Amino acid sequence: MTSERIYIIGGTGNVGSAAVNELLKHKIPVTLYARSQAKVQALFNNQDLLTVIQGDYADLKPFEDSIAGHTRLFLLVSDLQNLVKIKTSIAEKAYAAGVKQIVHISSSSVSAPWRTNFIGTVHRNSEEGILAIPNRAAYVALRPSRFMSNQNVFEAHGIKYANIISDTVGPDHPQEFISPNDIGLAAANILRDAVEKHGDAVYELIGDVLRPKDRAALLTKVLGREINYVKITAEEKYKILTEKAGLPHRMAYDLTGFVEADPHVTPGLSIILGRQPETLEQYTEAKSALL
Ligand SMILES: NC(=O)c1ccc[n+]([C@@H]2O[C@H](COP(=O)([O-])OP(=O)(O)OC[C@H]3O[C@@H](n4cnc5c(N)ncnc54)[C@H](OP(=O)(O)O)[C@@H]3O)[C@@H](O)[C@H]2O)c1
Repeated sequence: MTSERIYIIGGTGNVGSAAVNELLKHKIPVTLYARSQAKVQALFNNQDLLTVIQGDYADLKPFEDSIAGHTRLFLLVSDLQNLVKIKTSIAEKAYAAGVKQIVHISSSSVSAPWRTNFIGTVHRNSEEGILAIPNRAAYVALRPSRFMSNQNVFEAHGIKYANIISDTVGPDHPQEFISPNDIGLAAANILRDAVEKHGDAVYELIGDVLRPKDRAALLTKVLGREINYVKITAEEKYKILTEKAGLPHRMAYDLTGFVEADPHVTPGLSIILGRQPETLEQYTEAKSALL
């Protein structure tokens, strides 16, 4: 592994920081493409193993100038409006510079029926764009379900100030969750494995399934005060996502109507992680100060 050099895009976020910490734990040097050097310094120990390239999606020249000599690329892009263009452009430059494996954070929503869902469509088009690059090297797609961290982003206000969580489904409808820590660990494990082991693998990442009423009970237990589940209308959910969370129309519309067809935990996830997946209860306990 000593000859490997790993380049990280999206390393200062939720998932990416977990991947970087795991690589640093194993003393693997990483290059981070980041907007803020100060943020990188505040986030990570082992600064001696980190090289920071300051850059933005808007101008990929710093990436193009620094990717040569790296063997692997972790690719996470959060700009869904321009996702396909940004990801395929980065992947083309990486393969052209000799990168042997890209580990890409996609989404389980790519498996939704064709063009029925904006988020699934942009992730699917990104996967197809990367797969179609001529003479490319290995390409691993990770397809996580709903992040456990969404609870802290979209629901923190309701939990904190009204002691409620809400959604459009009934209280008994099971929903899928994955810990961002587990997505980062899965990526880091694959980046540490031989490239040939994973080839062009696709890994769905779903770590826990809970009904809204179980989630309310879990929050009640962890936070030590009663949290209730409230079923709301599509209009009410759309309003929360656009006005409180600031999501653009197509993302908010998708998330308003999103219902899993077959909620399940990924059977092989513990094989990829090397341990059992984190449960929503464990994740919530660790993040309870935010709620
Ligand atoms: N939330 C879900 O339920 C869910 C489910 C499936 C898939 N996903 C996918 O997961 C991804 C989001 O992952 P996440 O939660 O880890 O995201 P995140 O915490 O928001 O982190 C985003 C990362 O991208 C960087 N970034 C943002 N804008 C940038 C720009 N203009 N130029 C360069 N870097 C930029 C951020 O850097 P800064 O630190 O400088 O901001 C950060 O490192 C998205 O692709 C999403 O579609 C999400």
